[in-house]
Amino acid sequence: MASVAVIGSQWGDEGKGKIVDWLSSRADVVVRFQGGHNAGHTLVIDGKTYKLHLLPSGIVRKNKFSIIGNGVVVDPWALLKEIKAIRDQGVDVTPDNLMIAENATLILPVHSVLDEAMEKARGNDPIGTTKRGIGPAYEDKVARRGIRICDLREPDVLKEKIGNMMLHHNALLKGLGMDTVSADEIYSALMKVRDEILPYAGVVWRVLDKMRREGKKILFEGAQGMMLDVDHGTYPFVTSSNMHAAQAATGSGMGPDAVGYILGITKAYTTRVGSGPFPTELEDDVGKYLGEKGHEFGTTTGRKRRCGWFDAVLVRQSVTISGIKGIALTKLDVLDGLKELKICVGYELDGKKIDYLPASQAAQEKVVPVYETMEGWSESTKGARSWKDLPAAAVKYVRHIEELIGAPVTLLSTSPERDDTILMHDPFAG
Ligand code: IMP
Repeated sequence: MASVAVIGSQWGDEGKGKIVDWLSSRADVVVRFQGGHNAGHTLVIDGKTYKLHLLPSGIVRKNKFSIIGNGVVVDPWALLKEIKAIRDQGVDVTPDNLMIAENATLILPVHSVLDEAMEKARGNDPIGTTKRGIGPAYEDKVARRGIRICDLREPDVLKEKIGNMMLHHNALLKGLGMDTVSADEIYSALMKVRDEILPYAGVVWRVLDKMRREGKKILFEGAQGMMLDVDHGTYPFVTSSNMHAAQAATGSGMGPDAVGYILGITKAYTTRVGSGPFPTELEDDVGKYLGEKGHEFGTTTGRKRRCGWFDAVLVRQSVTISGIKGIALTKLDVLDGLKELKICVGYELDGKKIDYLPASQAAQEKVVPVYETMEGWSESTKGARSWKDLPAAAVKYVRHIEELIGAPVTLLSTSPERDDTILMHDPFAG
């Protein structure tokens, strides 16, 4: 099967944008299958920077088809804003190169109001969400009161559905001592944008089935990372969707065999944005160094990312749970110049050694990392395009990571530039 799913193996921000762009030049269609505009994928092409949140990365390339699948939550205003911004950079976005699943759920302004209200209600223990309304929109979807793209075609049904949905939300907002939101206002606002959105709406599962039969190369573009997966991540400090590769099938309308190769994007160290456990976090000068050198600020919210040593236990867990076949290792060059490097190879919990991250929130906060120390390198690895350009200590570090996580490095990225990539195996070859 000529299809590849790209998923994050840590807490997101692993550098998926560049890898997805690199792979999309070989694909026919790029599909987003979960998340929403909480994601931020930065692409640098010929020195020009594109920042995408909701649009699939294939959009910036000519002759590629982009799909937003049913597993994505779509904020129509954010989408139109992003389409405009990308058009202003000279990129064509039309129904000829973009389709949105008609059964995708909408994010409405009330969802971001609720997202913010719920974060406030959590007091000193917020999740640190992006406040884009992602969680409340998925809640509505699962509670069967969500508004979907196809509802925009039927104004009467749309009005009734919004009324039902707002009965629920206004009761909640009142309970939180907040102003209620008018159902009529939401309806009018949606009616204003529906003519701009509906031309993109389509039956994605049929289009993908046809493409698959024609042998087209499909690239599934995951957002966030496995440790933010609502089932397998550091719950409740997670986002509200599944990053698991199986979601590529569910979130686009294909069978479980839709994905041929699962590529896990993995940073050569660890970062996390927002709250929640982070066993290898460094609150010292090394952490600061990684943050500054790695430009670790969120693409979506601009927040400073927390930084720490590479956690092989977590990545091995992601590899196992999600069936990752190989990894794309990114940002190795950020480690250039460090005298020694640490890799977490296990944890200690209440005096006992364990080799996985337990599900309990209390345990996740308590685990103490067990480290192996490796020699660093002083040479630059930035822009290296073959293994022989890398210092011996860097090669040793990469090889040790492969051993510890149980998956090979398929691709090594050595700078944000597209061509600064060492390829060991073409993921589209299966
Ligand atoms: P939400 O997705 O806005 O509900 O945020 C839930 C958690 O996921 C927060 O800790 C966010 O910082 C994190 N998060 C959401 N999207 C991303 C992303 O694209 N990269 C990294 N972290 C993210």
